[in-house]
Amino acid sequence: MSKQFRIHRLLYYLSVIKFLENLVKKETTLELRAEIDKTGSPDNIKLRPFTLESPGPGEVVVRHKAIGVNYTDVYYRNGIYPQASLPGKLGHEAAGFVEAVGKGVTNVREGDRVGYVIASPGSYSTARLIPAEILLKLPTELEFETAAAMLLKGMTVSYLFKRVANLQPFHQILFHAAAGGTGLIAMQWARMMDIKIIGTVSSEEKKELAKNYGGSTVINYARDNFVEEIRNITKGEGVDVVFDSIGASTFYQSIQSLKKYGLMVSYGNASGKVSAFDLGLLSGHLFITRPTLWSYIATRKELEVTYGELLQLVLLNKIRIPIYQKKSLQDVITLHKLLEERRTIGCSILTV
Ligand SMILES: NC(=O)c1ccc[n+]([C@@H]2O[C@H](COP(=O)([O-])OP(=O)(O)OC[C@H]3O[C@@H](n4cnc5c(N)ncnc54)[C@H](OP(=O)(O)O)[C@@H]3O)[C@@H](O)[C@H]2O)c1
Repeated sequence: MSKQFRIHRLLYYLSVIKFLENLVKKETTLELRAEIDKTGSPDNIKLRPFTLESPGPGEVVVRHKAIGVNYTDVYYRNGIYPQASLPGKLGHEAAGFVEAVGKGVTNVREGDRVGYVIASPGSYSTARLIPAEILLKLPTELEFETAAAMLLKGMTVSYLFKRVANLQPFHQILFHAAAGGTGLIAMQWARMMDIKIIGTVSSEEKKELAKNYGGSTVINYARDNFVEEIRNITKGEGVDVVFDSIGASTFYQSIQSLKKYGLMVSYGNASGKVSAFDLGLLSGHLFITRPTLWSYIATRKELEVTYGELLQLVLLNKIRIPIYQKKSLQDVITLHKLLEERRTIGCSILTV
C-alpha cells in the first residue's frame, strides 16, 4: 500500500468520524428559544424547543454563549414595538462561536468567536441563523459576556454622542436613566471626552453609582424636579443636548431643559411612547430627532467603524462594561421583571 493511499484512507476515515460527530451533536442538542404567543407581561415568555435549520447561502449558525438583554426587548415583549408575526421572538444581540457556515460565506469560519446586533428579534436562544455579513469578530481577550453586554449599548452611545449630537468638550448635556446599561457607558464616555454630563436616576443608590461612573451631577428625578435643577446648575441657561430614552413621562420637561439652539434626542420609550405634540414647542430655535441604532450602522463600513472604536476603548480599559445582572437563559422571565420594575443597574446578560 503506497504512502499516498494510506494518507487518503486516513483523511477519509477522519471525515467519516467528523460527519458522525456532527450527526450525534445535532441529534443530542436540544435547541431552545424564548417565544411569546401574545404581547404583554414577562410571564408571557415561554422557552420552547425549536429546530435549527442549516445555514443557507450567506448565512451562518452562531452557537450562543452570552446574550445581551436590552430595554428594547421589553418593548417587543409588551407590544410597544410590533412583532412581525406571532409567536414572536425576543433579543437583538449575542456572542458565541460560528458553528456552521453556508455557501459563499468568506468572512468567517467554523469555530470563530463572533458577536452581533440585529434588528429582527430572536437572540434569546441557544443558537441562531444569522447573515454572515453582520458578524463582528471578537478578539480572544474579549469575553463573550462582555461582548454581549457592550455591542448594542456601546454602539448606541457612540452614534448618539458622535454622529447625532457631535458632542464637543464645551457642551453640557442631560442624560436620563444614567445608572442603566446605556447610561453607565454614557457616563464614562462623557468623562473621557471631558464633557459635563448631568444624569437622572430614580434612587439614591443609583445616584451614587452614576456619579462613580463619571456623572458630573446626578439628579434623583423621582424626588426632585429636574428642570429646576438643570436651571440652577446651568445658571438659567439650560443644556446643549438632552438624551431622552424615557419618553412619555419626561418628554416635555426634557425640552424645557434645553438652552437656545439646543437639541432634543428622543431615542427610547421606557415610560411609554411620546404622543403627537405641537411643533410650536420648539420655540423657534430648538431641534429634535428620533434616531435608532439600525440607521447608524446600516452599512458594513458604518458598523465596522463604530464597533472598531468601541472595541479599542474597551480593550484599553477606557470604557468598562458594567455587567450587574447575569442570569441563565432559563431565568429570562425574572430578568424581564427586574428590568421593568427598574430594579436593574448597568448591563444585563443571559448565559447559555
Ligand atoms: N434608539 C436607539 O438606538 C436605542 C438603542 C439602545 C437603547 N435605546 C433606549 O435606551 C434606553 C436604555 O436602554 P437600556 O437597555 O440601557 O436600559 P436601562 O437603562 O438599563 O433600563 C431602563 C431604565 O429606564 C429608566 N426608566 C424610567 N422610567 C421607567 C419606567 N416607567 N419603566 C421602566 N424603566 C424606566 C429606569 O432607570 P431609573 O429607575 O433610574 O429611572 C430603567 O432602569 C431604553 O429606553 C432603550 O429603548 C435606544
